[in-house]
Amino acid sequence: MIDPSALSPEARRLAAAGLVAGVYALFCGAMALREALRRRAVRQAAEALSRGAGEPVLVAYASQTGFAEELAAATAKALSEAGTPVTLRDLSAVTAADLAGRALFVVSTTGEGDAPDPARAFIRDVMKDGADLSALRYGVLALGDSTYAHFCAFGRSLDAWLARNGGQPLFDRVEVDDGDPAALRHWQGQIALLTGVTDAPDWSRPAYGPWTLAERRLLNPGSPGGEAWHVRLTPADGASWEAGDILEIGPRNAPAEVEALIAALGLPDAAAETLSSLRLPHEPAAIEALRGLSVEAIAERLTALPHREYSIASLPADGGVELIVRLMPRAGGQPGLGSGWLCRFAKVGQAIDARVRTNRSFHAPEPERPLILIGSGTGLAGLRAHLKARAVNGANRNWLLFGERTAAHDHFHRDEIEGWTASGVIGRLDLAFSRDQAERVYVQHRLHGAADALRQWVADGAALYVCGSLEGMSRDVHAALVEVLGADGVERLTDEGRYRRDVY
Ligand SMILES: Cc1cc2nc3c(=O)[nH]c(=O)nc-3n(C[C@H](O)[C@H](O)[C@H](O)COP(=O)(O)OP(=O)(O)OC[C@H]3O[C@@H](n4cnc5c(N)ncnc54)[C@H](O)[C@@H]3O)c2cc1C
Ligand SMILES: Cc1cc2nc3c(=O)[nH]c(=O)nc-3n(C[C@H](O)[C@H](O)[C@H](O)COP(=O)(O)O)c2cc1C
Repeated sequence: MIDPSALSPEARRLAAAGLVAGVYALFCGAMALREALRRRAVRQAAEALSRGAGEPVLVAYASQTGFAEELAAATAKALSEAGTPVTLRDLSAVTAADLAGRALFVVSTTGEGDAPDPARAFIRDVMKDGADLSALRYGVLALGDSTYAHFCAFGRSLDAWLARNGGQPLFDRVEVDDGDPAALRHWQGQIALLTGVTDAPDWSRPAYGPWTLAERRLLNPGSPGGEAWHVRLTPADGASWEAGDILEIGPRNAPAEVEALIAALGLPDAAAETLSSLRLPHEPAAIEALRGLSVEAIAERLTALPHREYSIASLPADGGVELIVRLMPRAGGQPGLGSGWLCRFAKVGQAIDARVRTNRSFHAPEPERPLILIGSGTGLAGLRAHLKARAVNGANRNWLLFGERTAAHDHFHRDEIEGWTASGVIGRLDLAFSRDQAERVYVQHRLHGAADALRQWVADGAALYVCGSLEGMSRDVHAALVEVLGADGVERLTDEGRYRRDVY
């Protein structure tokens, strides 16, 4: 054994550098192996899907945050297990020539009635009137949320285009409001009719795992804005994720609401466990309708609470999922369901229902590609996971543009960002603290101010990743990008998968 203190400083430096290089080489080897295994698994899955007899089915999906892709994969699997050969394809890779025979489309709507970003090339190049779709028989599963003004707008316009150009519907469009299980069962029923296999088990979303709330820390004491919390959850066994993925949380009701219902109905205290994850009635008549029923009978009449989604801000190597959660008040001032659960009501050490949702459309670009990361507020979460991964990969060409209200109170993860800047992981940093000067300054202004550099980075092959508020940031960032790079330039970046958004 060599005593390091016996070595000269130069020898120690060389030894350390050798160690770092060795670890890095091992890491690169492991990454290459993982990538090869992943490609083989994808190839094997595609081969397995395409086996079977009878007329093949194309399952095409357009997804912004991963749910449509998850459902398309489940659809393809169900068809394949029933013996039908399937091709599963992102809508961006579907051409006019593919639109014959049988096709199922699983598409979401984003923004204000917009198509998901990856669907843009299909809309521009394929979705033209005058197409001959007379040889196509199709079904559409449209995902949406009826709290938006343009419910399922993209699914509806795709369906209308398919019908207008001669496609024959196999069945009426199925619309899914906020993941409604009944609508998903209806879709599954249509798949069963297509295949003739009607006794397949019901699909279900992946079950929540028992995570633990390990840490909760206020990131912005004294801020003029809403509270933002660093929330750390340690995983259930076997959880894995990568930068860009999303954590779905199964929230619980505020304890005071549960206690009030227990008191109103004279239920045993033990009813709290069951009631905490159900949608509770608030109207007096709806509460009265439950009087005299057992807890089990009440549970049968109430539906489960919806999940909430949060961009993951850490890597598995950090030992847990870290989030940046803004406490959202409801109209009456009480905390929102998901953010209230994570930021207020759940206790450190308590179990949290959660599951990882893969969000391939926000996964990392190749390490050698320069990366421009743009976000404000809680949007730093998704960007932070990417910066962590880039630091591990030795991918140093990174430009972070981050905006919040004040440098004094809202510089989330400041030490870490300064550390990355000092070590060269962040090659360029532009901060926009909107309230620190008389006129408001936001990240889109920083983009304008750095127009030449932005054009240069894009010319060098950079990808642009945007994370955070749709209304408050990404729409204005998009407009700034169009002004600096031109509409065609932004379109090209989208087609090439170099402009990605995790916005909400
Ligand atoms: C892909 C994705 C990633 C996301 N990542 C993050 C993230 O990293 N960090 C983050 O903080 N958030 C993130 N979000 C947002 C997050 O999922 C939640 O929407 C957010 O936390 C608010 O949910 P909530 O349940 O706390 O509030 P809710 O209870 O849903 O209330 C939110 C708002 O809805 C209105 N509202 C809802 N219910 C009522 C009611 N009964 N009465 C009156 N008004 C009502 C209110 O105006 C309120 O402000 C993300 C969302 C998506 C889709
Ligand atoms: C930022 C944002 C905007 C949305 N806009 C709409 C909309 O305009 N109309 C609609 O019906 N649903 C809208 N939704 C709901 C999504 O379509 C729904 O959550 C869907 O399940 C997402 O599927 P995906 O993960 O495959 O993109 C929106 C969701 C988000 C996060």
